[in-house]
Amino acid sequence: MGTDQRRPLPLLLDCDPGHDDAVAILLALGSPEVRLLGITTCFGNCAVEDATRNAQRVLALAGRADVPVAVGASGPLVGTTALGNYVHGVSGLDGPELPEPLAPPVNEDAVAFLRRRLVEAEEPVTLVVTGPMTNAGRLLRDHPEVAARIDAVVFMGGSTERGNHTPTAEFNTYADPEALDIVLRAGVPVRMVGLNLTHQALATPAVVERMRAIESDVGRTCAAWMGFFGDSYHRIWEFDAPPVHDPCTIAALVDPEVIAWRDAFVAVELDGTWTRGTTVVDLYRRYPDRAPNAAVALDLDADRYWDLVIGALHRLGGTP
Ligand code: RIB
Ligand code: CA
Repeated sequence: MGTDQRRPLPLLLDCDPGHDDAVAILLALGSPEVRLLGITTCFGNCAVEDATRNAQRVLALAGRADVPVAVGASGPLVGTTALGNYVHGVSGLDGPELPEPLAPPVNEDAVAFLRRRLVEAEEPVTLVVTGPMTNAGRLLRDHPEVAARIDAVVFMGGSTERGNHTPTAEFNTYADPEALDIVLRAGVPVRMVGLNLTHQALATPAVVERMRAIESDVGRTCAAWMGFFGDSYHRIWEFDAPPVHDPCTIAALVDPEVIAWRDAFVAVELDGTWTRGTTVVDLYRRYPDRAPNAAVALDLDADRYWDLVIGALHRLGGTP
């Protein structure tokens, strides 16, 4: 798995770069097991304009002007706009200077772009979401017929345990719970990669040294990103090393053995005074009348994960 000779898995990445989104983009670009058809951007770690520019600059860092970028939502389907600049900095991707974009965004919005690429694809496409679910929610609300063209929605968000943006809610699901609710009810296969999993993906000093040792702009830039991201995580949540959340979604597609899953019923709280955006994950069938509606990531093989990430960065950096 992940090493067989199957055709590269086609995927679309909806993201809010964001330091960990940026590493997810590079993991997708540097892994021959997947084929990145395009990127759509969303508000989240920063305003959507900044997320878009950051996505373009990550593509420029990888020398990939061929990957189209479509601009998405500037705010949630309902309610106020939460932003994560307190973690990712003023630009949303603070740290080393990045190359200027190689190409402008495409002249269609994210939902139109996603719909067109899904309809045109020769086979169902995996939709990876590593920011708020707004674009995917709007796509499935307004164009439910495309559900049949989606192989699965794999999203970084929620948690089987505590949150981060609030004590109970993870940032992405807090930022647009209504959109996640739409996706959970849309009848598409859903795979949830929550904080309970991604907190196992820590960029320890040894991992950062492996990035730095790649001796390319890609490796040096990722190592510097981990520095900024790690400072934020230490300052805000007392982590000794930052959890690099978003690439876990891509790694599961590159090498299905890297994560262990359990099917479970997942709901997202829309109304709680203190708990809005919290994912409720029924791992032990406590709601017998609620059949599982998602695969929930539980265990990460962290060594295998980091080997995948470092291997991809090596390939992008042009080193063996
Ligand atoms: O809570 C972590 C998630 O929120 C990650 O996807 C991070 O990039 C932010 O979007
Ligand atoms: Ca993200």
